[in-house]
Amino acid sequence: MQLKPGYQKYIPFQPQPIQDRLWPNQTITKAPIWCSVDLRDGNQALIDPMNLQEKLEYFHTLVDIGVKEIEIGFPSASETEYEICRELIEGGHIPDDVTIQVLVQAREHLIRKTFEAIQGAKNVILHFYNSTSTLQRKVVFNMDCDGITKIATDAADLIYGMAQPVIAGGMNLRFQYSPESFMGTEMDYAVEICAAVLDHLHATADNRVILNLPTTVENCMPNQLADMLEYFIRKLPGRERAIISLHPHNDRGTGVATTELGLLAGAERVEATLFGNGERTGNVDMVTLAMNMWTQGVDPRLDFHNINEIREMYERCTKMKVGERHPYAGELVFTAFSGSHQDAINKGVRYMQESSTDMWEVPYLPIDPADVGREYEPIIRINSQSGKGGAAFVMQQSFGYDLPKAMHAEFGTIVQRESDRVGKELKAQQIFDLFDREYLSTPKTYQLERHSFQEDARHGTASWVAFEGEIGYQDKVMSAHGEGNGPIDAFFNALGDLPEGPVKGYQFVDYKEHAVSSGSDTQAVCYIHLKDPENRDVFGVGKSHNINRASLRAILCAINRSLLREQMS
Ligand code: KIV
Ligand code: ZN
Repeated sequence: MQLKPGYQKYIPFQPQPIQDRLWPNQTITKAPIWCSVDLRDGNQALIDPMNLQEKLEYFHTLVDIGVKEIEIGFPSASETEYEICRELIEGGHIPDDVTIQVLVQAREHLIRKTFEAIQGAKNVILHFYNSTSTLQRKVVFNMDCDGITKIATDAADLIYGMAQPVIAGGMNLRFQYSPESFMGTEMDYAVEICAAVLDHLHATADNRVILNLPTTVENCMPNQLADMLEYFIRKLPGRERAIISLHPHNDRGTGVATTELGLLAGAERVEATLFGNGERTGNVDMVTLAMNMWTQGVDPRLDFHNINEIREMYERCTKMKVGERHPYAGELVFTAFSGSHQDAINKGVRYMQESSTDMWEVPYLPIDPADVGREYEPIIRINSQSGKGGAAFVMQQSFGYDLPKAMHAEFGTIVQRESDRVGKELKAQQIFDLFDREYLSTPKTYQLERHSFQEDARHGTASWVAFEGEIGYQDKVMSAHGEGNGPIDAFFNALGDLPEGPVKGYQFVDYKEHAVSSGSDTQAVCYIHLKDPENRDVFGVGKSHNINRASLRAILCAINRSLLREQMS
C-alpha cells in the first residue's frame, strides 16, 4: 500500500444532488426541541468521566436551564452508568415534565438490560442506534445494506415488543433511532433504513418516533448537510410519523452553522451539549445556538441568564475549560481592547441612554452582557493599545465620573503610560486608583482650609461675589480675600493676591460638574480646565458634598498639578 502524499490522500465529500432546494429561503422563528447529551456523549469524552455526585449536579443544572429531554447515559454499558440511572429514578431527581433518554446499541442483551435500568421512570426516550455509513459498512461490519437494516429492524421489533407492557404499566415511553454516521450514508439508503425502522416501531403521526440524524463526524460544509436533510425529509415515506432530530459534531468547527442550516432544512429537534463538550472536537454547543436565537429576537426557551454559574459548574464537574473567547461565555467576550471599538461602544451606550430606544443598539456588542448575567464593568479593560476614550469610558461606566471630552487625552495618556510600565492591561479598579492618585489625592502645594462666599446679584446687572478664606501654602496658613463676577473669578483673584506664593498667570478655560453617588452618599465632582502661564492645558478635579468647595478644590488641583509638572521638568 502506498498512501498518496499530504492532502491528496483524502476523498472529497460527494454532495447529494438536489433540485430547487427550499432551505435557503427559510428563517429560524422558533426554538427546536432541545435534548442535552452532556451526560452521555459529553461524559464519554472526558478524561475522567463524571462521578455520581457530579452527574447529579450537572443534571439539576440542565433542568434549571429548562432542558426537557436529557440523555443521562448508556446504562447497559457499565455498572456505574446503570447505578447513576437508578439513582436518578429512585432518588426522585427527575421532574415530571422532564424526559430522560437512554442510549443503547441495537443489540439484544443490551436492550434487555436497558429496559431493566429504566424501570419506575415516568418519561423515557429509548434511543437505539447502529452505524449505516458506506465506510463503516465496508471497514467495520463488512456487511451489505440489507444486513445493516436487519440489525436495526430486529432491534426495533424487540424494543416495540418489550415496550408494550411497560407502556401499559404507565410509563410514557417513546423511541428514538439514530442511523449513526448518517452524514456518510447514501441518502436513499438512509431513507430506506429509517422508513423500515418507523414501520417496525409502528410509528404514527400521533405516536411519532424521533429520527436522530447524526453528523457523527463532521465531514462536509453546512450547506451540503442541509441539502442532505432536505432531500431525506422529502423522500421519507410518512414523514409526519417522525420528529427529525440533529446531532451535530464539530470536526470542521462548523457544528453551529450545520445545526442552524439543518433547522432551516426542516429539523425540529437538536441534541447538543453545554459549551460543546463531546467526542473529539465536541458536540454542537447548546449555549451558542440558544443565544444566537436570542440575539435574533427568537426565544430559545432555555435560560442562560447566569452563564458564569453554569460555566463554573461545567468546569468543576467536567474538569474542562471554557475558552476565553468562547461565544457568550468566555472570559474575554465582553472586553474590547481596541480604542476605536471602545469609542464606538461608548457612543452606542450614550445613544441608547439619550434616545431612550428600547432596542439593543451598541456596536461591537452583539448582545447585552446583562442578558447572560455579565456586567458592563469588565467590558473595557485598558492596555497600551487602547485609545484615549477607553479610560474615560471605564470611569463613566464603572464609577460614574463623566470626564469632559478635553480631558480624555490627558487621562488616556496617564493610563497608557502605566499600562506600558506594568506591561499588561489595567482593570477598572486600577484605572480608578490612577485617577485618584493623579487628581483627587494629588500632592497639595496649595490647600483650601476654609472658605465662605458673599454675593449680591440684581436683575439686569453683573453679579458680585466675594471670597473669604484660608489657604494652606507650604507650612503656613494664609488669609485670602478676592472679589469677582462669580465664585471662580473671586477665588482666582484671591489666589493672585496671596501674601506669599501668589498664583498668577493661569487662565480659566472650562468647567464641568455632576453628582456622583456611592451607596447612599452623593457628592459633587467638578472638573476644571486651565491654561498655565506657559499656555499649556492643565486639568484639575475636586470632589465635595458642597458644590462650591468641589470647584475650588478642582482649581487648586489643577494648579498643584501644574506646579508638580514644573518641578519634574
Ligand atoms: O455521534 C453520534 O453518532 C452519536 C450517536 C450514538 C447518536 O453519538
Ligand atoms: Zn455523538
